[in-house]
Amino acid sequence: MDPEALFPPLRLLAFENIDSTNEELRRRAAQAAPEGTAVVAEAQTAGRGRLGRRWDSPPGNLYCSLLLRPGCSAAAAANLSFAAALAVADAVEPLLSSPSVMSFKWPNDVLLGGRKVAGILLETEIKGDSVDWVVLGVGVNVVSFPQQAMYPATSLAAAGCDRTNPREVMESYFDHIRIWYARWRNEGFAPLRAAWLARAGGRGETVEVRIGKERFVGRFADLDADGALILEMDGGLRRITAGDVFLTAAPAGREEV
Ligand code: BTN
Repeated sequence: MDPEALFPPLRLLAFENIDSTNEELRRRAAQAAPEGTAVVAEAQTAGRGRLGRRWDSPPGNLYCSLLLRPGCSAAAAANLSFAAALAVADAVEPLLSSPSVMSFKWPNDVLLGGRKVAGILLETEIKGDSVDWVVLGVGVNVVSFPQQAMYPATSLAAAGCDRTNPREVMESYFDHIRIWYARWRNEGFAPLRAAWLARAGGRGETVEVRIGKERFVGRFADLDADGALILEMDGGLRRITAGDVFLTAAPAGREEV
């Protein structure tokens, strides 16, 4: 299917300053904004990350969100965060002198040289059995990154990239998310899963997963057909659907922190 057929040319709303591009798009989604509406801001005053965290949003980095109305189940819509990670990687890779340093960390962080360069926040509204809308927010550290993040971070500039125009990154990202979205609509999650796994950090290695106060250490065995992380622990498999992964080798086991 022609990617253009899925949603019309983007209807891009640009702001100098906003609370959160996700929040603005949620407001517009509630007022029947069509699929393909997008919001970009030069800075955010209340940028948010996964699990209710803050997302530092000074000028110079990319903050954008895209409204989709795939009309599928909430579980299937969650696949779209992998589409966004893949599209960010496709957009950033040509800007790098050494593309092989780019990888993914479950669920959808994009890493450069093992450090987080972009994060994705997918928010949905359910109506009956399916999603009414999906807001897919992306933050890319273009010129700066938080020094005290939970996971070590970096920026395109710090990684030696000399093309640091957030608008350029955004345009390329939107071109690629259109392609991955079309692919997902036509072929399902399988090709996204395969592309994501090809770049997954820590696969087959010992990783640590933190879920609230619990901490699990095991081998990152796989990504299942729905996008859950499969952790092998004490000979058994544990399916992880939410949490923070740390790609540091450690002895296997489970403990409270
Ligand atoms: C994460 O890694 O925790 C996800 C971070 C997502 C940040 C982006 S910036 C654009 C959009 N608006 C927000 O408030 N958050 C997302």
